[in-house]
Amino acid sequence: MKKVLVTGGAGFIGNCFCKLLLKERDSMVINVDLLTYAANPSTIADELKNPRYVFYKEDIRNRAGIFKIFEIERPDVVVNFAAESHVDRSILDPESFLTTNILGTQVLMDACRQYGVERFHQVGTDEVYGDLPLDRPDLFFTETTPLHTSSPYSTSKASADLLTLAYYRTYGLPVTISRCSNNYGPYQFPEKLIPLMISKAMNDEPLPVYGKGLNVRDWLYVEDHCRGILAVLEKGKVGEVYNLGGHNEKANIDIVKIILKELNKPESLITYVVDRHGHDLRYAIDPAKAMRDLGWAPTTMFKDGIVLTIDWYKRNTPWLDECVASNKAWLKKNYTDRK
Ligand code: NAD
Ligand code: DAU
Repeated sequence: MKKVLVTGGAGFIGNCFCKLLLKERDSMVINVDLLTYAANPSTIADELKNPRYVFYKEDIRNRAGIFKIFEIERPDVVVNFAAESHVDRSILDPESFLTTNILGTQVLMDACRQYGVERFHQVGTDEVYGDLPLDRPDLFFTETTPLHTSSPYSTSKASADLLTLAYYRTYGLPVTISRCSNNYGPYQFPEKLIPLMISKAMNDEPLPVYGKGLNVRDWLYVEDHCRGILAVLEKGKVGEVYNLGGHNEKANIDIVKIILKELNKPESLITYVVDRHGHDLRYAIDPAKAMRDLGWAPTTMFKDGIVLTIDWYKRNTPWLDECVASNKAWLKKNYTDRK
């Protein structure tokens, strides 16, 4: 992989992927990111000093701008992380989810067709499979589980996956898709469960748990996800979908209690709030195909990853404070005015 164009490389997972490429491969990395609210510009400060890294502030929906970047850079591989990624925001305001996540993906694939690439990789999510019941721990999402979405976010991601597979079948574009479970780790914007709860607990503020806190998510350390994507690029088969996850299911309330314990804060900070509309009950990935065909397996146990994550947020309060300050309007909209 000589030149890898990464979209959304200033976000949580995309930045981790760029760091991994720069550290463990000799590729040129081209990051195309609009720097929305979800991207703190200081996230990419270190990468900008690297001579193998180029940054373009661009919207993946802007066809002329994206084609111009392809004309200049001629990437060999494109990995699309760019997305609106927060389910709650998609419930309150779906529009940008549909335009960025679906039409932005189309623009990128059209550019790939025009200029020719070895691979277009779409970073997908397990949310496209809908949810599983809480009382059937024997059920898991496999790559053949029917798509059955709940939120505008998951629907936009499922649409992008279908479009990606359509570009493979109709135009022969060499695509792959990975569908990953919930990520956690450094640099995650403090609107998602784990960094939001760390941030609230560190400031002795109430921790808002939706419903009864019994919904289950399947957590994977962000670097394990990125290594899974690398494995798909290097060993995966064109036209295929690969599920990535580490069999690490936990109820939200248990996650919140682990964070409070680790930060030595009281459980009295837990506050139950009105549930998320259409709240998916349980996600659980079966990663057997990626393990068998790619030789991929997660390496960070949750008990270690959560300590690394909390420690990172404690050591990076300026980064966290910048995000919280820029996110005040959202916190009011989603929590203070919650109904
Ligand atoms: P994020 O919100 O942290 O980052 C998204 C990045 O995309 C930001 O840097 C943002 O500026 C950029 N972006 C948004 N709209 C853009 C546009 N129109 N043009 C260019 N850039 C734009 O998201 P994340 O958590 O890093 O997720 C990355 C990808 O992984 C997404 O596609 C998401 O659906 C998928 N995913 C996330 C998780 C998770 O747990 N976070 C799990 C599975 C899959
Ligand atoms: O499964 C992969 C998906 O995981 C990704 O595709 C999404 O981009 C990512 O945001 C994530 O979606 P979730 O909705 O599962 O993540 P979130 O962190 O928003 O919520 C996790 C769980 O915690 C969910 O059951 C809702 C609950 N929750 C969340 C927030 C923000 C709360 O109880 N309180 C909160 O304040």
